[in-house]
Amino acid sequence: MDPSGTSEVNDADGRVSPEEMDSDTDYRAELERTRSQLLVFARDMSAVYQRKREHELKLGALLEELRTDYLSIVETLALVVEAKDQYTANHLERCKRYGIALTSRIDESMITPQLQYGFLLHDVGKIGIPEGILMKPGPLTDEEMTVMRTHPLIGVQIVAPMRRVLDEVTVEVIRHHHERFDGNGYPDGLKGEDIPLSARIFSIVDSFDAMTSDRPYRKALALDEALTRLRAEAGKQFDPEVVAEFEQLMQSIQSPEDW
Ligand SMILES: [Fe+2]
Repeated sequence: MDPSGTSEVNDADGRVSPEEMDSDTDYRAELERTRSQLLVFARDMSAVYQRKREHELKLGALLEELRTDYLSIVETLALVVEAKDQYTANHLERCKRYGIALTSRIDESMITPQLQYGFLLHDVGKIGIPEGILMKPGPLTDEEMTVMRTHPLIGVQIVAPMRRVLDEVTVEVIRHHHERFDGNGYPDGLKGEDIPLSARIFSIVDSFDAMTSDRPYRKALALDEALTRLRAEAGKQFDPEVVAEFEQLMQSIQSPEDW
């Protein structure tokens, strides 16, 4: 019973006492304050997120610029090497073209920008080889050959600071493009399928382009003759399965200029 004798409190008919009305008003006011605070907080968080997003975009754009600059520098180095030897003009571009065509036949999914950089940069280490050896028109002495054979490892050192841009495939081509299938190549003497496939592919197109280009000490070989020599080295210098793929590819090509 209500001790006041009034009938303002009555659960049964839904009426509310003044005390309860005050408490409800306080509760609603508190709720409204909290809601306003949450809205302010949400707006602040949104502004912080927006600023963070803008910073990320700016940073991403700067990294992309840096990446492009790095690659331009290394490509320039590769072209400097090529420019030193007038007899190998456009060798890089042709090797890249042949390499992409042959790789496509073997495994399309291997074609990445990093693989193509490997093709383009394979001889970048020649920047560290003395010109007297690099441009010598005749055969190299054993001593000179030892120096020349350091170019894959010099190349790996040159691109080492660019690991965020160039991946393992790029380094594989640079390091292993002079390995031989029989294990007698350099710099690591890897044998058979221990040699990365990218390098097994590239060593064939590199040799093919060398054979079908004029050199100071000989004229370019005819395509048939170059193919005969590649076939003769299948299982020795080259992976026989990759040579077979290259031969099939060549059936659709009439001249190196058609690539
Ligand atoms: Fe090389």
